[in-house]
Amino acid sequence: MFTVKTLPKEDYQFAVDLANTMNWNMAVEDFEFMASLEPDSCLLLLDGAKRVGVATCNNYGKMGWFGNLIVEEKYRKKGAGTALVTHAIKQLHAKGVETIGLYAYRHLECFYGNLGFKADKDFAVLQAKDLQRVKADPLPKIGTQQLPEIISFDSENFGGGNRSKLLESIICTQGNASFYISEGCEVVGYVAATIYESMAWLGPLVCTPSRNDIALPLIKAALSEMAGRTVYAVLPKTEAKLLEAFLGLGFREDFSVSRMFLGKAPTKNCIYMAESLERG
Ligand SMILES: CC(C)(COP(=O)(O)OP(=O)(O)OC[C@H]1O[C@@H](n2cnc3c(N)ncnc32)[C@H](O)[C@@H]1OP(=O)(O)O)[C@@H](O)C(=O)NCCC(=O)NCCS
Repeated sequence: MFTVKTLPKEDYQFAVDLANTMNWNMAVEDFEFMASLEPDSCLLLLDGAKRVGVATCNNYGKMGWFGNLIVEEKYRKKGAGTALVTHAIKQLHAKGVETIGLYAYRHLECFYGNLGFKADKDFAVLQAKDLQRVKADPLPKIGTQQLPEIISFDSENFGGGNRSKLLESIICTQGNASFYISEGCEVVGYVAATIYESMAWLGPLVCTPSRNDIALPLIKAALSEMAGRTVYAVLPKTEAKLLEAFLGLGFREDFSVSRMFLGKAPTKNCIYMAESLERG
């Protein structure tokens, strides 16, 4: 019989080893970070006492996000994956989450579809190895003073979800990059990026609907701080011009994913690059 519990610290290495059978390039720090956002966000699936799967779920208030789902190969097609997703849905709903999002491999649209998720948009997962130097016009950096406004702008465009803890942790960490553009007294777009020594994640990026003219300057400002690294970004496929710009900067499409929602999908058509596949 399958049971699900919060992933204990001593099982983080098990989770990393299992996740990396898929080349997800994860480290113990990734699960530590998830747990620092919310103690019960990492889930462990057991068959009796045997560890057979993991997944993560983030609660952002009205919005939640599901990710990192993986089951040991010899336990697949026995209902284990379904048990983990179902548990996460219940856990998030119990906390008041109304809409749950996830990024699914295309071949798993049916798997999640059977659990009630509906496909929304296709996203390209982009990668640049040894990113070239990118020239950018100077933009203001996000400081602690702008943080509350950025958080509320993000929430408006993220289905009412409050990602304050996540955004604060990215924006306030030294070495990361974050920029914004405002008009009058209003923020119209921002970008944040997590930068490590040899790799970086570009995103989230959010712009006011119909203002795709400000997305590229924001993207370039963040990329200008990432030269020489392997850089990842997740971009809606509908943004053809931005996609073309990324390809021109040395990115290639690694694979594509389908953004799916359980519950009411956010209606705003903002340009929205993911912070990560697992956290939305
Ligand atoms: C995706 C995954 C977690 C599913 O786990 P699972 O325990 O096999 O799932 P279930 O047994 O609950 O599957 C229920 C149904 O989903 C569908 N399904 C499961 N895996 C599938 C796959 N790889 N491709 C297509 N359909 C699949 C099947 O219709 C299955 O029904 P069946 O029993 O009639 O065959 C597992 O295949 C896995 O760990 N894959 C590698 C990691 C991964 O891709 N994670 C998802 C990231 S988006």
